[in-house]
Amino acid sequence: MAYDRAVTRGAGVRVALLFAAVGLPGLALAGSPDLVAEGERWWTKSPDPANPVACATCHWDPGATRGWAASFPKWKPLPPPGARVMTLFQANAEAVTRHYRLSDPRRAAATITAYLAAQGAGVPPSPGMSAGQPVFPKRLRALAASVERGRALYTRRCDACHRVGDVARTLTAYPRVVGDRVESLEEYVELHRRAPILSWNSQATADLIAYLTEELPR
Ligand code: HEC
Ligand code: HEC
Repeated sequence: MAYDRAVTRGAGVRVALLFAAVGLPGLALAGSPDLVAEGERWWTKSPDPANPVACATCHWDPGATRGWAASFPKWKPLPPPGARVMTLFQANAEAVTRHYRLSDPRRAAATITAYLAAQGAGVPPSPGMSAGQPVFPKRLRALAASVERGRALYTRRCDACHRVGDVARTLTAYPRVVGDRVESLEEYVELHRRAPILSWNSQATADLIAYLTEELPR
């Protein structure tokens, strides 16, 4: 009996170490987590030992992913009905859900967003376009329409309290650490001023952020 318990406890410790190594939420998080380092772990290691394919397995070339952060928001040509303008955080959340099958992709997506933003530091913003990639006029038109929807939404829902330039300047402050949580701008806006809620994963939130990105002083 005592022997059984000791074995069980040992196994528990091994499981905890294994989870800490792949950076699962809730374990490696004491103090103020380093978002970029955590994002790199999610990027390079799958949380599922049975399926070791990670983001970096397919996206192995840092030269190709360096321009990603600057190119969002943009039209993501997902299979219908998924195709739409997305923020980088939303696109990462979609990829985390699809490839890692997490029920809540937000923490992994936010830290991966921080990691990709760090990789792309110094790349000038070019929403809708990635350096070295073909430009699709149809996708740029869809992005322009998203910016216009975002502008109207901003006027209705935000303008009474904030100058747009002030809000646009906070874009680079996210994702950020709040206590033991990691928060994207998308999540902040979802919880900011309750009714009616803009869901973090919605087209409307992507529209708003597409507009704010457009208003960011260059
Ligand atoms: C099995 C291969 C595979 C895996 C694993 C994979 N991706 Fe992708 N991903 C692709 C392909 C293919 C594309 C579309 C072509 C491209 O943009 O590189 C893509 C595109 C993307 C894009 C859009 C890039 C752009 O410029 O439009 C993002 C963001 C992305 N993936 C994030 C991730 C993240 C985060 C993970 C890990 C959770 C991941 N991917 C795992 C294959 C993969
Ligand atoms: C009724 C006034 C009001 C409206 C409307 C409003 N906000 Fe705010 N917002 C605030 C106040 C006050 C703060 C300061 C923090 C707090 O009290 O929540 C804030 C803070 C913020 C911040 C955080 C800034 C930082 O430095 O971290 C962002 C981002 C933001 N608002 C975006 C928006 C957006 C986007 C909208 C529209 C969807 C919006 N706000 C609508 C009052 C408002």
